[in-house]
Amino acid sequence: MAERRSDGHRYQPGFGNEFVSEAVPGALPAGRNSPQRAPLGLYAEQLSGTAFTQPRAVNRRTWVYRIMPSAAHPRFDRIGNGSMRGTPFDEIEPDPNRLRWDPLPLPAGPVDFVDGLYTMGGHGDLRTRSGMAVHLYAATAPMTDRYFVDADGELLFVPQQGTLVLHTELGPLQLSPGEIAVVPRGIRFRVDLPGGPARGYLCENYGAPFTLPERGPIGANGLANERDFLAPAAAYEEGRGPVEVVQKFGGNLWAAGYDHSPLDVVAWHGSYVPVKYDTANFMVLGTVSFDHPDPSIYTVLTSPSESPGLANVDFVIFPPRWLVGEDTFRPPWFHRNVMSEFMGLVRGAYDAKAEGFRPGGASLHNTFTSHGPDAETFARASRAELAPQKVADTLAFMFETRWMIIPTRQAMEAPHRQPDYDSVWAGLTPSFAAPGA
Ligand SMILES: [Fe+2]
Repeated sequence: MAERRSDGHRYQPGFGNEFVSEAVPGALPAGRNSPQRAPLGLYAEQLSGTAFTQPRAVNRRTWVYRIMPSAAHPRFDRIGNGSMRGTPFDEIEPDPNRLRWDPLPLPAGPVDFVDGLYTMGGHGDLRTRSGMAVHLYAATAPMTDRYFVDADGELLFVPQQGTLVLHTELGPLQLSPGEIAVVPRGIRFRVDLPGGPARGYLCENYGAPFTLPERGPIGANGLANERDFLAPAAAYEEGRGPVEVVQKFGGNLWAAGYDHSPLDVVAWHGSYVPVKYDTANFMVLGTVSFDHPDPSIYTVLTSPSESPGLANVDFVIFPPRWLVGEDTFRPPWFHRNVMSEFMGLVRGAYDAKAEGFRPGGASLHNTFTSHGPDAETFARASRAELAPQKVADTLAFMFETRWMIIPTRQAMEAPHRQPDYDSVWAGLTPSFAAPGA
């Protein structure tokens, strides 16, 4: 059953479970999904997040019991996209350079979550449900009489500053930096800002829904545990209106005026649900002997592709942890990767960079670009006394994806992009002591 947490909201623990929640006792029909007359006069409606016939292990759907059927709305009309972009990401030629940005400035005036969306880049084709986009959000005003729904992809929220309350069709999720949330494709929500301005990162996943990675030889425990994912408890809005519902569809924004709130679900049961997760609950694994395991051991969620182990996009975190490896260069090493790496920093410092990678900032190391520690970090870590060391008070993360991420033109031309990022590696010098020299 739902339990009340310290943020005052009620949650149900689990991931991919068949959850059950009713805001009013008796609102859920017993033993039927769509009885001839649903309890309390509510309308029954199914929300299918996967094809009807997908295997039971991945099949997700939810039955909602609502005051108005979601079909009761007028036509949507096209509105401006603002700084939001969709596929195809072809505004610029793919650029082989390593890229880094300072934090996106917060808007000077009142801007809500939808108007504050800012697309950094992406790839794939949302029309064929492959690929992903990286957006940032920077909002100073709550969505009061406005709602959002993304038909193109599911949304992974990574807040960096400020608290959000995602009021979703299935109930509210409160979200602070250090926590993440996933709102499935097609679920309506509005974003409240109880603590003032908020900024963060948003992965829009056009591919298969995020799920937990397999653990293989790790066993039945470790990494992210199902019980730490929290689904909301049912809550409904009645008597609000008129309101605007903004829909992202086919890469563009459309809006319709409703005479009622689309968050009018009184009870629901199912597996297609928004969830939140506190990264502090991630059980971090690492070496207790020498060398680095690959950073895939930090995978929180993965959107699998049709090829086993090849992710449409992985969500990977670098949380506080102990480094104990002997005879090991402990920061991330120099490397090139067929996968593309978009990184962000929620708080603290990242152990591969001495400076320049700021909380709220971002870097993009695209497919096969060479990167790794800067000269200062390399020098320091090569000489370091290798006592056990706590990497504390930090949270970096990565959206790691199978294809090249193409930045938007606005991201390439942004004043907050660092044009001199390459200089991070400028201090590296030839290093070779030939035997006998
Ligand atoms: Fe990397």
